[in-house]
Amino acid sequence: MPPRPDDPALLRSLRRWTRDVWAYDVRPEEAERIRRAGSAETYGEIQIAAAARLLAYLRPKRRDVLYDLGSGRGRFALHAALGTAVGRVVGVELARSRHSMAVALREAARTEGWRRAARLELRCADLLRVGLGDATIVYCCNTAFPDAALERLVRKVLRCRSGTRFVSTAVLDAPRRLVLEDVLRLDMTWRRRSKTYVYRVT
Ligand SMILES: C[S@@+](CC[C@H](N)C(=O)[O-])C[C@H]1O[C@@H](n2cnc3c(N)ncnc32)[C@H](O)[C@@H]1O
Repeated sequence: MPPRPDDPALLRSLRRWTRDVWAYDVRPEEAERIRRAGSAETYGEIQIAAAARLLAYLRPKRRDVLYDLGSGRGRFALHAALGTAVGRVVGVELARSRHSMAVALREAARTEGWRRAARLELRCADLLRVGLGDATIVYCCNTAFPDAALERLVRKVLRCRSGTRFVSTAVLDAPRRLVLEDVLRLDMTWRRRSKTYVYRVT
């Protein structure tokens, strides 16, 4: 059976694996590191049902490489790996405590026999410095990022290959080569039906 992002067993498992995992606080030195990188440590997530909708909309294929920039405790990145045909998912998170939660989450899935968990690669790194050369889909929950970080992010995404889709929770001051294709309304932990912008590199 091909993987489905709205598979009830998958949604139940994702909920169970993350139920007692608290990612909202980071250590002061982690927050400081993120601020020095120029972004923000503020936490929030796409809700599971909204993630299923977004993944059904994106329909990643075997040839796709999806990056979750600022992957937090890793639920969206793991959802993409287990619930779609995507070839590879890369979750990038600078806070080591959150990165470790994502590693444990992937391990929980593996232990319970979700073999596609191996498609999820997790990097404890700065999303503003990570290479995106192989990316075909980039997702970034960047609502709390300062303008300067958003501008750097846009410049970075513009270096991706033509056709790459960029899903941003913040509206971007996008140059002509980054075309706004769609605006979705998705439930986030901080707001219901929050606008989510789908851009394409041309
Ligand atoms: C709002 S959360 C998004 C979590 C998840 N991607 C989702 O949408 O459900 C943003 C995450 O980005 C991380 N972050 C912020 N700046 C970063 C940076 N420069 N490099 C890597 N991660 C960063 C934060 O630590 C936080 O975990």
